[in-house]
Amino acid sequence: MEKKYHIVTYGCQMNVHESEKIAGILFKMGYRETKETEDADIIVFNTCCIRENAENHAFGNIGALKKLKKRKPDLIVAVGGCMTQEKGKTEVLKRKFPFIDIMFGTLNLEELQELIELKQREKKRVVRIREKEGEIVEGDEPLRTSYPNAWVNIMYGCNNFCSYCIVPYVRGRERSRKPENILAEVKKLVAEGYKEITLLGQNVDSYGSDGSTGMTFAELLDSVASVEGNFRLRFMTSHPKDFNEEVVKVMAKHRKICRLVHLPVQSGSDKILKAMNRRYTCGQYLEEVKLLRSYFPEAELTTDIIVGFPGETEEDYLATEKLVREANFASAFTFVYSPRTGTKAASMPDQIPESVQKDRIMRLVELVNSLTRKKSEKYLGKTVEILCEDYDEKKGLYLGRDEFGRMGYFKSETNRIGDFVNLKITQANGISLFGETAEKENKEI
Ligand code: SAH
Ligand code: SF4
Ligand code: F3S
Repeated sequence: MEKKYHIVTYGCQMNVHESEKIAGILFKMGYRETKETEDADIIVFNTCCIRENAENHAFGNIGALKKLKKRKPDLIVAVGGCMTQEKGKTEVLKRKFPFIDIMFGTLNLEELQELIELKQREKKRVVRIREKEGEIVEGDEPLRTSYPNAWVNIMYGCNNFCSYCIVPYVRGRERSRKPENILAEVKKLVAEGYKEITLLGQNVDSYGSDGSTGMTFAELLDSVASVEGNFRLRFMTSHPKDFNEEVVKVMAKHRKICRLVHLPVQSGSDKILKAMNRRYTCGQYLEEVKLLRSYFPEAELTTDIIVGFPGETEEDYLATEKLVREANFASAFTFVYSPRTGTKAASMPDQIPESVQKDRIMRLVELVNSLTRKKSEKYLGKTVEILCEDYDEKKGLYLGRDEFGRMGYFKSETNRIGDFVNLKITQANGISLFGETAEKENKEI
């Protein structure tokens, strides 16, 4: 009988894509996907440790496997991702869940096949977590799950050490992929029919900053956007300390590049930004917003914001609200600060009580939603281009996103997944748009 795999993913887009790489390795080994844990011969947890609740989530799900593992002793349970890379966490995992068979880190994901074979041969637990990043391994074929969208890593790791963040500790130092490998991957994806490419990195603007690639991010973006074919190009994440006019100029040169920038601001208080070690001020941030909109008045920004960082006063919080209004974000990911062991902020004095954090996050979410709703109204009656990416069984509607990441739903008798569809917006419910397929002069993208 066919062997089956089941992967559970937590965390960011980077992890989602790494799960595709894990799936690629398992597929090559003869495993096929199952959505049911019960049917699986191997279950892989690709974990995240960015906030405490991400970890708790994984702990809960791994713990829930205990019974199944008893019933199916041959089931292989593997845990990888950022949690295993966290100092001391593998010990905690071993203690809590003695039934885990394999643990592997983010820095040695490509060794998974070897580890599985080792486990099968020696019948004992295999733990291999690389401490230091090595050379980038090329050549693994991810098993992509998000057609017509495809994620492409341009770099790994992070050098920024924002004082709250665990990523530099679990992902190692920054390393950039060679431009020729990135371009080859993009060309292949476009030839295969992918319609949206997202370039991924923790801080894409510092691509090649160690001089190893002979190219800046702006230059890389230019060459990727010059690949022939009908596709959209996105990139994330930009860091405000490095985002610059060169990138905006390249965006202006290519209509393929979506005029949406994900530019995490984190806070609207200079005092807090300094304590976060973000290395820009609110003034500088707003200048960048202005710069982008001076090129494209229609440009949209999305962001990440943390509330309740140590030392954040009500005044600091209100400064964040003010900045959110000024920047007029299309949407924002909002988080309650979560202390991470080993980071600088975890030992800062003046940690904020949970009740205050909760109050602030609720107010912020309300504000962000009100901006999003206001933007929805502007869509009414307009025709926008949607890249159809899925079918919603419950609603009985196809869905996709416009270049600004807005979700639009529509009815169709034929399968439109992978098509650019012009949608006349007839209804806007909160953040979702509904429309009818419409004719529009074909825009060259
Ligand atoms: N490299 C990106 C994103 C990193 S993680 C960047 O620099 O912006 C995604 C988001 O998680 C961050 O932008 C931040 O808003 C949030 N985050 C990171 N560490 C956190 C913590 N300890 N508590 C709460 N939110 C956190
Ligand atoms: Fe974390 Fe800062 Fe690096 Fe982003 S830039 S991953 S927030 S340390
Ligand atoms: Fe991403 Fe979480 Fe790791 S946000 S980089 S999976 S800690």
